[in-house]
Amino acid sequence: MDSSSVQAYETSARVAAYDADMDLMHPNRHKMVEVIMAALAASTPDPRLVVDLGTGTGFLLDRLLRRFPNCRAVAIDGSQQMLSTAKSRLGSLAERVEFVIGDLRQAETFGAEIESADAVVSAYALHHLNLQEKAELMERCRARLKEDGWFLNADLVVSEDEFLEALTQQMRVAGIVDRAEGRDPRFRTATDTRRFIDELQRNECDQPQTEADDLRIMRGCGYRHVSLLWKDTREVVCGGIR
Ligand SMILES: C[S@@+](CC[C@H](N)C(=O)[O-])C[C@H]1O[C@@H](n2cnc3c(N)ncnc32)[C@H](O)[C@@H]1O
Repeated sequence: MDSSSVQAYETSARVAAYDADMDLMHPNRHKMVEVIMAALAASTPDPRLVVDLGTGTGFLLDRLLRRFPNCRAVAIDGSQQMLSTAKSRLGSLAERVEFVIGDLRQAETFGAEIESADAVVSAYALHHLNLQEKAELMERCRARLKEDGWFLNADLVVSEDEFLEALTQQMRVAGIVDRAEGRDPRFRTATDTRRFIDELQRNECDQPQTEADDLRIMRGCGYRHVSLLWKDTREVVCGGIR
């Protein structure tokens, strides 16, 4: 696929190290998945179908399918390697999943199944899209989601305030160095860590937007009850209802 944000996830080394790296760099991912599942359970205790955007290695889907035993899922990602890792991780749970290799920016990636979905969910994927692409994706999902279906997105944001953004980045780097405890040469010092994450973000075309922009485009698409459900520093869970 002609997208550097996907090409980066077709690299065997990145895929193999992905989940361990996520735990080191984004330990909040566990909490964020819990928030998504709690929001969904509060409105739909027994969901039957969920569409996951940017499934990756299937961290979110694994938890979701265990928590909701009658739920099936459509797992969409541009990276074949990430989706095959997800399939292995899910084991027998994969029988409840339709895997779709496709670009989230293209309308043809989305089939008719979204019309019966109880929710569209996503974790750490939509910051690879620019604001316009993200708004188009949200609108495409809203137009086809069933009434009262959720759009739930766990992702990264940037601060509108440059000073606060710089502080946030310092906190981010210090957290990674602490958790790595000197065991990983990429994260021995703040300088090593900064160099590594700068290169990673460049390769993967990270372009997180502000929380205000994310909420604004969701409202602009016509979602109701749009809100920030959870936040810690530069990680958020936002949601809105069709
Ligand atoms: C940081 S990973 C997140 C994976 C997973 N949701 C998680 O929480 O660990 C981002 C995923 O989005 C996928 N991705 C990035 N840009 C994409 C695009 N334009 N279309 C489809 N998938 C894309 C990548 O292939 C990768 O698997």
